[in-house]
Parts: sequence; C-alpha cells; structure tokens
Amino acid sequence: MNWVDETIKRRKSVRAYAPRPLSSADRQGLQDLLAEEKNTPEIFAAPLSFHLLESRENGKDVPLGTYGVIRNAPAFIVISTANRAEAMEAIGYRFERIVLEATRMGLGTCWLAGTFRKEQFSERIQMGPEDILPIVCPVGYPSERKTLTEKVFRAVGKSDHRKAWEELFFSGTFGEPLAPEKAGDYAVPLEMLRLAPSAANRQPWRIVFSQGMFHFYREENPASKYGYDLQRLDVGIGACHFHLSALSHGLEGSFVKAAPGIRTPENMAYLFSWAAK
Ligand SMILES: Cc1cc2nc3c(=O)[nH]c(=O)nc-3n(C[C@H](O)[C@H](O)[C@H](O)COP(=O)(O)O)c2cc1C
Repeated sequence: MNWVDETIKRRKSVRAYAPRPLSSADRQGLQDLLAEEKNTPEIFAAPLSFHLLESRENGKDVPLGTYGVIRNAPAFIVISTANRAEAMEAIGYRFERIVLEATRMGLGTCWLAGTFRKEQFSERIQMGPEDILPIVCPVGYPSERKTLTEKVFRAVGKSDHRKAWEELFFSGTFGEPLAPEKAGDYAVPLEMLRLAPSAANRQPWRIVFSQGMFHFYREENPASKYGYDLQRLDVGIGACHFHLSALSHGLEGSFVKAAPGIRTPENMAYLFSWAAK
C-alpha cells in the first residue's frame, strides 16, 4: 500500500498528547510543511496563513485554551484567512494535506472548529481587520492513554463510523447509487474520501459520477452556528483524500468548475468537479 492510503487509514483525531515539547527536527519539519506548499490545484489557491504556536515559551505556559478537550498538546497550528467563501474548500484541501504529512511523521492532530478559545489564539498571530480564524489544530505526540474526554468525544461523535457508499456516491443522477465496481480505478480514491474527517463527523460530501467527471456537492447543515460554511471546508478535506490517493495510483485529471446539469436535491449545492484524463 502506498503512503497516502496507508496514512489515511491510520489517521484518527488525537485529543490527548504526551507532555513533551516538539523535537527540533519535528518543529522544523512542520515549519517546512507550512511554508512550502507545493502543487496546489488552482481552485484551492485562496490566500491562507498558517501559524505554528507552541504551548510553552521561555519556560512559561502560554494560555491556548480548548475547554479541556485537548490535553497536553505541545503546539497548535492556527489558520487565518481574509477570503471567507472560497477559502473554505482551500482550507480543507490544503490543511488536510498538512495533517496527512504530520501523521506520516508520527504526529497526532485534531481539527478544531469549535472547542477552542478564539481570543487566546488570535492574540498571538498577526491578523488583518477582515481576517477570520476558523480552525486551530493541536499537534504533538499521541499519549498512550486516552482521556475520558477523548473517549466521550469519540463515542458521541460516532467517530469510527462512516456513511455507506450508497449514501455518498452516485452515478449520473442523485437517485442512482454508484457501485464500487462501476467506479473502476477510482474505487480506491473514493474509499479514501469516505474515510476523511469532518466537523462533527457529518460527512457532507456527495459525489455524482457522470461522463468521466466526478462532481462534488456538499449537503447543507441548516443548524450551523459558525457564520461560515464549515461543510464546504469538509468537502475540501474529502477532495484532498480523493486527489492524493488518485495521484498516488497514477490517475491523472484536474479540478474544474463545471456545469453538471444534474437535478440536485434542495439541500445540496454543487462546488467543483474532477475531470479524469
Ligand atoms: C472541520 C472540522 C472541525 C472539527 N472541530 C472539532 C472540534 O471543535 N472539537 C473536537 O473535539 N473535534 C473536532 N473535529 C474532529 C471530528 O469530530 C472528527 O474528525 C470526526 O469525529 C471523525 O473522527 P476521526 O477524525 O478520529 O476520524 C473537527 C473535525 C473537522 C474536520
């Protein structure tokens, strides 16, 4: 199995960390990942800023609160952006790529959109007047022992469960499920997308395969309390798994904005497509 599929299968949100700082090699590795993003598809190129904050500076603890959800994280990656609408898929795609690289390095991570003290994080980074800070992510060495909070979060969020293929992937229309056999070489990249993390494990991605194109939609969440479209961000995460897996299997193509002309249920919105070569 290639590193992409293997890492996707292995990654899980980590909320309890060993109480030790990042090694200098890992700190440098993370800083390199944040600074040198490569080969980003045009549609995910919205301007984003990534910042690495450490939980101890000059021998003192820095207040970076997570309401007790995250234990002992030695550092956090923080994402800020000015560009609200289109930035969402860009954050999802580009930050998940960093999460997978960090997982490959043996580090634990956990996307956080809700359970963090925004003012404590925003105080420590440079932000423009229009900027938002939608996501932070602890990073460090997974603790051997899970905390009770972590166990409760995983159980309540049904974190180990994923929706079945027939709820997510369709052929030609939203009425016709796509069987893995009909997906051909793309059965593995779609399966890797299915395993992606999402906010509250909602898995809002829906894909319609039609005439050599995979059209990506997101299911709306009318109850969203964030003031920005977290489900678009989730679809970006799914697109990252799909794309990296496709590339790792030598499948070529490109992300485009298309006009699929497919009858769409009311709570579904079209975002972008993968045109297979
Ligand atoms: C965009 C996004 C936001 C998330 N926000 C939070 C959060 O605020 N607090 C938290 O404990 N977990 C959060 N999570 C983690 C999800 O609950 C988790 O990814 C999901 O339950 C699947 O579990 P897994 O990541 O272990 O596969 C978030 C995940 C994503 C992708």
